[in-house]
Amino acid sequence: MPLPDPGPLIGGVPVIPVLTIERVRDAVPLARALAAGGLAVIEVTLRTDAALDAMRAIASELPDVVVGAGTVVKDADIEAAIAAGASYLVSPGTPERLADALARASVPVIPGCATVGEAMALAARGFAVLKFFPAEASGGVAWLKSIAGPLSALRFCPTGGIDMTNAAAYLALPNVVSIGGSWVAPKEAVASGDFEKITSLARAASALRRQRRLS
Ligand code: 3PG
Repeated sequence: MPLPDPGPLIGGVPVIPVLTIERVRDAVPLARALAAGGLAVIEVTLRTDAALDAMRAIASELPDVVVGAGTVVKDADIEAAIAAGASYLVSPGTPERLADALARASVPVIPGCATVGEAMALAARGFAVLKFFPAEASGGVAWLKSIAGPLSALRFCPTGGIDMTNAAAYLALPNVVSIGGSWVAPKEAVASGDFEKITSLARAASALRRQRRLS
């Protein structure tokens, strides 16, 4: 049976900010700043003690922001993230046991892969959109172009090493739904509360899609 397709959820924005939030109090202003710049679909990585509370705060205070959980690496992360308000789940890689658990999740999932074999195994389980991670280190745009023929049904959200210098090249690929990256929310800007800077980075990133549509 096909699994819930994350495409409609994430395909409306060109870039998904990948956020590692250290302080819960930064979560809402950060998400609000990104949404003001046009990036209202975000991923909060489960890498900090603040992550679940940060997600909870965003989900309850900013209903127009779609918040997903990233760095889902074990079964227990799945229910914890959904309970905290995650609308979708992302894993950096997807060992078999995690793939089993993710396939049973009640929200759309973007499981991570870095090789053709991993992509094929996830496709066979019914996952339609995969995170290609770490994108730049694993072959980048050339890899995605090469896989488009043999695995033509699969679509990707490449992440890892992407920024404004290479984002457009990824977004030009037909098998790319959207891209992920941390560059729109630099650590220093978050730490110093420079949310205007974050809105301006988000605005530039969200304009990428418009450029593609116009060309
Ligand atoms: C991640 O999951 O850490 C993302 O891939 C972010 O990668 P980046 O920091 O290179 O954008």
